[in-house]
Amino acid sequence: MRYLIFSDIHSNLEAMEVLLRWAKRKKIDKYVVLGDLVGYAASPNQVVDRIRKLRPLEIVRGNHDKVACGIESGEDFNTAALYAANWTQQKLTKANVAFLREMPQGPRRVDDAFLICHGAPYHEDAYLFSEYDATLAFASFKENLCFFGHTHIPRIYFQNPSGDVGFMNLRGDEVRFDFEDGCRYLINPGSLGQPRDRNFKISFAVFDSEKRTLTSYRKPYQFTVTQSKITKAQLPQMLATRLGMGI
Ligand SMILES: [Fe+2]
Repeated sequence: MRYLIFSDIHSNLEAMEVLLRWAKRKKIDKYVVLGDLVGYAASPNQVVDRIRKLRPLEIVRGNHDKVACGIESGEDFNTAALYAANWTQQKLTKANVAFLREMPQGPRRVDDAFLICHGAPYHEDAYLFSEYDATLAFASFKENLCFFGHTHIPRIYFQNPSGDVGFMNLRGDEVRFDFEDGCRYLINPGSLGQPRDRNFKISFAVFDSEKRTLTSYRKPYQFTVTQSKITKAQLPQMLATRLGMGI
């Protein structure tokens, strides 16, 4: 089974379309989305419409999805994020609000093969930024493999059979990673719509469960178009600026 795994699209239609065009030419059995479909950029309905069309689909909700559909108030959001979430809530169609409201909370098991969550396996809104965070996360689930999002940083945390935890950042336009028997993994495929590792290119991964490999990809997209839409919608300008810098 080949799983296309991506996260944190954040209403970025141009990023989404590059991914869909790429996926059309590849053999993908299942699309796996780790949450934060909306928030920040200016195309929430177009992105949710495209995600809804993906079949078969495994998905968990993100913190921005919850605020944009009214499940949470966003009191812990910074000013720009909250402004964008409220703007998004006003723009979303009823059908897309209903879709966001029904998105399940992580962690969620996919095909008895791995777990998925937005933030951490022990809490959907927690951030896994360090080996310390990852050590706590590894202690909170039993499976050997879990995919997460939320930090927008493409990274693999691994735990060897004696319990030691380390990590490697996924850098490069195409990086292949082979899984080792006896090790456990927490993997972030990076962000599709708002990468934050100083690389503007969209980030996503393909997991091949038979070959036991992961390939991480970066692809360029027309971020200036996304920036113009953010400006035209009068969303905070820093949300446009950061896309070009990958921060
Ligand atoms: Fe996010």
